[in-house]
Amino acid sequence: NTPASGSSHAKIILIGEHSVVYHQPAIALPLPAVRESVTLTLRSDNVQQLISRYYTGARHDGPQQLQGINQLVDELLVRFNAADAGFDLTINSHLPAERGMGSSAATAVAIIRALYRFFDQPLSHEQLLVDANISEKIIHGNPSGIDVATASAENPIWFMAGTQPVSIPFHLHGYLVIADSGIHGQTGKAVRAVAQLRETDPFLADQAIKGLGRLAYTAKSALANDRLADLGKVFDQSQVFLQRLGVSHVRLDEMIGIAKQNGALGAKLTGGGMGGCMICLAANEATATQIRLALAKSGVAQTWLQPLKSEEH
Ligand code: PMV
Repeated sequence: NTPASGSSHAKIILIGEHSVVYHQPAIALPLPAVRESVTLTLRSDNVQQLISRYYTGARHDGPQQLQGINQLVDELLVRFNAADAGFDLTINSHLPAERGMGSSAATAVAIIRALYRFFDQPLSHEQLLVDANISEKIIHGNPSGIDVATASAENPIWFMAGTQPVSIPFHLHGYLVIADSGIHGQTGKAVRAVAQLRETDPFLADQAIKGLGRLAYTAKSALANDRLADLGKVFDQSQVFLQRLGVSHVRLDEMIGIAKQNGALGAKLTGGGMGGCMICLAANEATATQIRLALAKSGVAQTWLQPLKSEEH
């Protein structure tokens, strides 16, 4: 009956958001510094309480956004013959929610790890991915699985829906600046908007999706061969495709402009878009710092700095 914990981290999609839903490859990296942890503590009564920064109370009385988590926890409790157990589920997260950093996937991964640990059950990586899909499906409708795969990965991954994610080496000497617009991203809405565009303008949508897929291969080769400027170009070109798909946001476009004016080699939105975060590439720490300062001055909610060297992951 000792409490059990599980943890996970944020993720950043370098290239391939949205096109990954249509079976194009994508590259994503874990952000181990931006963590989330979940602890399960048994109670003497039969109340199942959720304790988080957004909501604290009986878990089934919570807001609609908790539906995915509740479904996931319900299914796991049934699996472990513990549907009537009373417990506190405490979620401690440093990830901003709905900003394209994979907070729902990180929560799912941490919950699954905590519950399997509490009930002393072995958990394979395959099972973790399958289980996390329970809540992701409710939240996003048609998740590619990239968020969950990256929230549970130790290294950057090459991801294609329906296949096992592969670790890819990074031999790049650059810095990634991540900036949160402070505007809630709308992954579900953005995914639906792309699906809609495929109906109304299949040629445009298909060109953008395939273009993003090709850029993922270019990015892979740039990462492996320390070609920073090429990766910067991939960022810029993918942002054009993402704009065509209609998933950017005026504020993101503005932030991308600021990053470029301050020396970024390339910049794009990351994650679902329509708000959320931007990423850009800087050749050295001094430029990265200059970009962060300029973005902070323009009013972004938060920035992070991630070196892109393979040893760092
Ligand atoms: O907004 P996020 O962090 O959930 O990223 C979504 C990535 C998409 O490609 C837009 C959707 C998906 O399921 O892959």
